[in-house]
Amino acid sequence: MADLLAQLEALAAAARGEVAAAADPRSLEDLRVRFLGKKGEIPAVLRGMGALAPAERPRVGEVANRVRDEIEALVDAARGRLEAARLEAELSGAPVDPTLPGRRLLPRGHRHPITRATEEIAAIFGRLGYEVASGPEVELDWYNFEALNMPADHPARDMQDTFYVDAASLQGAPREGAVLLRTHTSPVQIRAMLGRGRPPIRIVCPGRVYRSDYDQTHSPMFHQVEGLCVDEGITFADLKGTLAAFARAFFGPGTRTRFRPSYFPFVEPGAEVDVSCSICGGTGRRDGRRCGTCKETGWLEVLGAGMVHPRVLANGGLDPARVTGFAFGMGVERLAMLRHGIDDLRLYFENDLRFLEQF
Ligand code: FA5
Repeated sequence: MADLLAQLEALAAAARGEVAAAADPRSLEDLRVRFLGKKGEIPAVLRGMGALAPAERPRVGEVANRVRDEIEALVDAARGRLEAARLEAELSGAPVDPTLPGRRLLPRGHRHPITRATEEIAAIFGRLGYEVASGPEVELDWYNFEALNMPADHPARDMQDTFYVDAASLQGAPREGAVLLRTHTSPVQIRAMLGRGRPPIRIVCPGRVYRSDYDQTHSPMFHQVEGLCVDEGITFADLKGTLAAFARAFFGPGTRTRFRPSYFPFVEPGAEVDVSCSICGGTGRRDGRRCGTCKETGWLEVLGAGMVHPRVLANGGLDPARVTGFAFGMGVERLAMLRHGIDDLRLYFENDLRFLEQF
């Protein structure tokens, strides 16, 4: 027994010295495990108790408990000391200024100017009571042309040179009718009428459209925003008022609009709408020189519009004897170009940061 007691006292003495010398929490923890852990030195001594007479065991147990409690207390106290010293060192070190600006996240991006223009257009019509609708970019010929009063042999199709899709290669493709990349957002007119059924219908549809075009003002992929308003008693005056309000909101309060007769098979009557040139203020002259943006006319064409053709209303499942409506379609790149004074639409799609960062 005396042997075990001596071993325990020796462990206690060793622990006192080593714990006092430990320089960081990690070595303290190692010491705790070395002395007190399941496979540590104190349990190892206690395993020798089996050889003692039963009467001697309580005394050894008592000393072992005392030594264990002492080592635990030493470790705790040392841990507290180390933590306090760490805090002290931190506080007395270089001063921290919490009011300094944080580290900047670089580079900071923003939405594409075309996305911004699209969202702004949708927001303006949102304030006029329009909801946002959408339709597929891979569309059926029927929605894109046929239902909009452009049968297969209609010459107006030529103006929207089209990308056709090899439908046979598509899973679940319809058995009849050609499939194409939509050439305008107007097919959403038909989808909105068929889908909603009962007027009033007031929707705008922003989205991508595709045509076989490519030059300074024409891209094979571009964006349009379609608008459709159908109800009883809608007139051309409503169309004019709506588009004038839009032009003022988008281009500025002094903006004027003018309607020129034009032809789209899906409206009657149809019009092309110009706004007064935002670059020269509609004067045609800028700094005593010819305004290049509006080619000195003072006007810029921004969209096509008109009263929905009765046949289109019928294709949308509505009764043309009871309801009327107007529709319009605008090119978003066109509007953004006019607003930013940009003369080449392809800049929007080249992803050159020197261009995009200017917005
Ligand atoms: C249409 O697409 C008609 N769906 C618009 C419409 C809707 C008329 C409802 C009446 C009622 P248009 O082909 O003119 O019309 O195109 C509309 C606008 O899209 C043009 O004014 C032009 O701004 C833009 N646009 C046409 N082709 C391109 C192109 N390749 N790249 C960029 N913008 C284009």
